[in-house]
Amino acid sequence: MHDTPDATTPATGCPVGRPDLFTWEFAADPYPAYAWLREHAPVHRTALPSGVEAWLVTRYGDARQALADARLSKNPVHHSEAAHGKGKVGIPGERSANLMTHLLNIDPPDHTRLRRLVSKAFTPRRVAAFAPRVQELTDRLIDSFAAKGEADLIHEFAFPLPIYAICDLLGVPPEDQDDFRDWAGMMIRHGGGPRGGVARSVKKMRGYLAELIHRKRETLEATPAPDEDLISGLIRASDHGEHLTENEVAAMAFILLFAGFETTVNLIGNGTYQLLRHPAQRELLHKSIEAGEHDLLATGIEELLRYDGPVELATWRFATEDLTLGGQRIAEGDPVLVVLAAADRDPARFADPDVLDLTRRDNQHLGYGHGIHYCLGAPLARLEGQTALATLLTRLPDIRLAAEVADLRWRGGLIMRGLRSLPVQFTPE
Ligand code: HEM
Repeated sequence: MHDTPDATTPATGCPVGRPDLFTWEFAADPYPAYAWLREHAPVHRTALPSGVEAWLVTRYGDARQALADARLSKNPVHHSEAAHGKGKVGIPGERSANLMTHLLNIDPPDHTRLRRLVSKAFTPRRVAAFAPRVQELTDRLIDSFAAKGEADLIHEFAFPLPIYAICDLLGVPPEDQDDFRDWAGMMIRHGGGPRGGVARSVKKMRGYLAELIHRKRETLEATPAPDEDLISGLIRASDHGEHLTENEVAAMAFILLFAGFETTVNLIGNGTYQLLRHPAQRELLHKSIEAGEHDLLATGIEELLRYDGPVELATWRFATEDLTLGGQRIAEGDPVLVVLAAADRDPARFADPDVLDLTRRDNQHLGYGHGIHYCLGAPLARLEGQTALATLLTRLPDIRLAAEVADLRWRGGLIMRGLRSLPVQFTPE
């Protein structure tokens, strides 16, 4: 058993004392607190800001094991508090919108069936064919601010790129994509905050998707020629004669939007921010891009995911029976949160874990998760991240931070890690 101190005790000089978790100071740099937990309380029970108590898993070995452990369910019905109607977990507004049957909330065999079907439509080939479109979107967004000599890279670049990309991929017509941008903006701004606005946005998105899916189904029935967009692909996907129901297609489109949006915003935001803070690494990357090499861009994106990844904590898991993890007893019904950001800086797994090294090759990070829920969108995220960073460095070679690091604010919320804004300056194009 490990000593698990009360994390609500005021900080006494972390990393040597007990850290305060989930405060503003913590959000700016959670890594010393995570190092403390890894060392002193690697499986640690704490009260989250919502009041729900959960176990935080911070060592790489335990994290990997937990992500692949079938005794840890993704279905919130296994949460001990669900029985008492507290149900505070999940995507805000999701419950009322009946989008519960998505991949991150279900276990095998349902998960296996849905994942197999979606994998038939959301293929690496479809993503690869999308590369020119991602480049076009990236250039168009940079065009919109390149002449100004300054920009907020979150609002003007990292935020719109993934939402337009996923809308295009799904087959949302261009004239409706700004609505999606607004709904997604509401979700990202208030994800952990006022629920009314988020619930309304989710409801509108749900209504819109149901309508769109219906229209696409009718089009497919009238003209069964293969359609290029992903929603049509999801409708047509079949496995041993089985298809997704209309509600399953809607839930799948919603989770692709939800899981593929803020994550990618943060990959571009955190990734650019860390490059700007590490000039020698950024210089190395810039030179290799100029030389037309792809290797460093590929290993570099993986390193940025490890070093300051978009997903700080993996999504909720619940113990379906009493079990032991990292020497700690966990009771049936207890929530378990795997802290990917802590595991990915574990010195037991990574040499010099607190050093950003874009050339790192032994880099089996957990930024995309592990096991059966491993990120379905990883090929798309890599494509967007690589295109965004390479194009920024090429087109705005002297791009620099236009704010003090101490003045930058990180968005609240438990699962994701990302900046609210990223002011930069550069020589106008
Ligand atoms: C799952 C990270 C982008 C779709 C996950 C998980 C992680 C993750 C950590 C596992 C969560 C868990 O086990 O609790 C990321 C990161 C991204 C990214 C860091 C960007 C850099 C995307 C994109 C899409 C996507 C672009 C789709 C368009 C999904 C889906 C799942 C998932 C559908 C659930 C898979 C399942 O449960 O079987 N992602 N993701 N992600 N991701 Fe991503």
